[in-house]
Amino acid sequence: MLADKNIVLGVTGGISVYKMCTVVRLLKKAGAHVRVVMTQSATEFVTPLTFSTLSEEEVIVSLWPKDKHSSTDLGVKHIDLGLWAHAMLVAPATANTIAHLAHGYAEDIISSTVLALRCPLIVAPAMDVDMWENDATQQNVSILKGRGIFIIPPESGELASGLVGAGRLPEPDTIVDYVDDVLEKTPCDLSGKKILVTAGPTHEPIDPVRFIGNRSSGKMGFALATAASLRGADVTLISGPVSLGTPKNVKRIDVETAEQMHNAVLDHFEKTDILIMAAAVADYTPVEVAEHKIKKLGSHAHGISVELRSTSDILHIVAEKKSKQIVVGFALETTNELEHAKQKLEKKNLDMIVLNSTNDKGAAFGTETNVVTIIQKDGTATKLPKKPKFDVAMEILNYLLKLK
Ligand SMILES: Cc1cc2nc3c(=O)[nH]c(=O)nc-3n(C[C@H](O)[C@H](O)[C@H](O)COP(=O)(O)O)c2cc1C
Repeated sequence: MLADKNIVLGVTGGISVYKMCTVVRLLKKAGAHVRVVMTQSATEFVTPLTFSTLSEEEVIVSLWPKDKHSSTDLGVKHIDLGLWAHAMLVAPATANTIAHLAHGYAEDIISSTVLALRCPLIVAPAMDVDMWENDATQQNVSILKGRGIFIIPPESGELASGLVGAGRLPEPDTIVDYVDDVLEKTPCDLSGKKILVTAGPTHEPIDPVRFIGNRSSGKMGFALATAASLRGADVTLISGPVSLGTPKNVKRIDVETAEQMHNAVLDHFEKTDILIMAAAVADYTPVEVAEHKIKKLGSHAHGISVELRSTSDILHIVAEKKSKQIVVGFALETTNELEHAKQKLEKKNLDMIVLNSTNDKGAAFGTETNVVTIIQKDGTATKLPKKPKFDVAMEILNYLLKLK
C-alpha cells in the first residue's frame, strides 16, 4: 500500500525519536514519499539533518519562513502538507503533543498540519508509564480515538527511565506495518457519495427536566460516520444526545427527540446516496409534556401514569420516498433475533439490515466492540466475529459497496 504514497511524519520530543530514523528508511524502501516535520523539542534528540538526509527532503521545524522578508518562502506549509498527504503519522507522540492535538492547538508545524489534514492520522504515543497512565493523557487519547484518529498502542516493557510498564514506542517495522494497514483500510472507494448516518438515542420529554431515553451511546453510528468519511464520502451525521466528539470532516446535526430526528432525516434524504439508520429512536413518546416540573406527591400517594403514543416510523416513511437511495437499518433484538430482523428488512423495504443482539457478549449498547449479523435483501445472513466498532463499521461499508 505504501508505494507512491505521500506520508507526513511528525516527530515530537521523546526519547524514542531515534527509532524514527529506521521508520523513514523503511517507508522510503516501501516506495513512499516522506516529508518530516519536527517540534523544536524533537530536534534536541535527533537533528533535522539526519531526517533530511534519510527522507531526501527538507525537514520543517518552524511554521515561519526562514527569511521573514521573502514572499517566496512564505508558503503556508502546513496547509500544503495537509493537502499533499495520503496519511500522517505522529511518532513518537509526546504527552504534550497529544494534549495539543486533543484540544485543537495550532502553535507549531505538527499541530497546525494535523488541523489542515484531509487524510487518516495515525498517532503513536510514547512516554514514561506514569505519564501514559495519567488520567489527563488517557482522556486526551480517548478524544483522539473518538475523532477517528488511529492510535498505535504503546508496548509494555522496560522504559528509558528504568521503570517497567506501558509507554514504549513499538519497533519500526510494527509502526510501518500499522501505517500500511491503515492505508489498506481507508481506500477512497466512497468518494463522491453522500452518506447520511443517524446515531445515538432520542430523549422524549415528560416535563422540562425529565425524559424517556434509552442506553444507546452513539458509538456505532459515530464509527460508521468516521469510517465513511475516511473512505472519502461526504458524511452528514444526525445525532441524538451523546457525549462523543464529532469525527473529522463530518457535518453533524444534533437533535433530541424522535420527531426532530425524523425531520432532520427527511430534510437530507433526497440528496443522500446512502442512509444508515444506526440511531435508537424512541418508539413511544409522552402524549403530553408537562409545562412545569411534575411535583413529587406525598409518600403514601399512588404513583402517576404517563400516557404514551407511537412516534413516526422513520424507516418506513423513508422507504416510501426511496428512489436511488440505499437504505440500511439496524435492529436490536432480544429474542428470535434473526427472524425479527428479516421481517423488519422486508417490511421496511431496506437494502440491508444490521442485527445486534443483547445476548452476545461485547455487543450493542455502550460497548467498544460489537457482534453483528449482516442480513442482505436475499436473506443471506453473515455473522461477524466480535470486533471494535470501527472495524465493524468498515465491514458494513464493504458490504454496502457490493450492493447495486
Ligand atoms: C531526556 C528527555 C526525554 C523525554 N522523553 C519523553 C517521552 O518519551 N515522552 C514524552 O511524552 N515526553 C518526553 N519528554 C518530555 C518532552 O520532551 C516535553 O514534554 C516537551 O515539551 C515535548 O514537546 P513537544 O511535544 O513539542 O515535542 C522528555 C524530556 C526529556 C528531557
